[in-house]
Amino acid sequence: MKSAVILISGRGSNMQALVEGGTGLEFKAVISNRPEAQGLAWARSKGIAAQAVDHKAFADREAFDAALGDAIAAHAPDFVLYAGFMRIVGERFVNRFQGKLVNIHPSLLPSFPGLHTHRRALEAGVKVHGATVHFVTAALDNGPIVIQAAVPVLAGDTEETLAQRVLAQEHRIYPQAARWLAQGRIEFPRAGVVQVSGSGVSSDALISPRTDS
Ligand code: GRF
Repeated sequence: MKSAVILISGRGSNMQALVEGGTGLEFKAVISNRPEAQGLAWARSKGIAAQAVDHKAFADREAFDAALGDAIAAHAPDFVLYAGFMRIVGERFVNRFQGKLVNIHPSLLPSFPGLHTHRRALEAGVKVHGATVHFVTAALDNGPIVIQAAVPVLAGDTEETLAQRVLAQEHRIYPQAARWLAQGRIEFPRAGVVQVSGSGVSSDALISPRTDS
């Protein structure tokens, strides 16, 4: 059985979707860079080892990255899944876990990397928005794409209503990506494009039906 460590910074709804998503991964630990992250208590309640590596306790990014890396490496996971993990890590950290790091980002990458994606999508007037699961590289929100889900942007949407619609899709596509990882059907690609191997996968994109009115 392949294993994973989940990294969080806050409430951890994507973490919950992963843990309860029947992925076939063994979740060895949940680590937060914020001691106050609500998701830590939830992980403990599920019997998963949960700890904080507080970024504020370190003099610089290098020192934090090294400590976080050691905390992860202690569990020797096959994968490290960022689930609302809001800390930028350096190249050395990315290289240390090359091919194991996966992130979920609330936009259809390569559109809207970085923060405030829903606000920026509304300001840009896009008609379709969504979420992306991708491998992490040293470039922010720019690694090879595993799966995406699209949602419509509706008249009258606010940042909150759009975020909610996207989040519902995040909770679908992240467990799906994790299942593929558990089954060994995807790996970090050399040429930048992820392929899902095996039969029964017709597409690596999910276009969500309009579920709200
Ligand atoms: C999600 O939208 C995630 O994509 C983004 O921050 C949010 C975190 O939510 N990076 P949660 O902590 O998983 O509930």
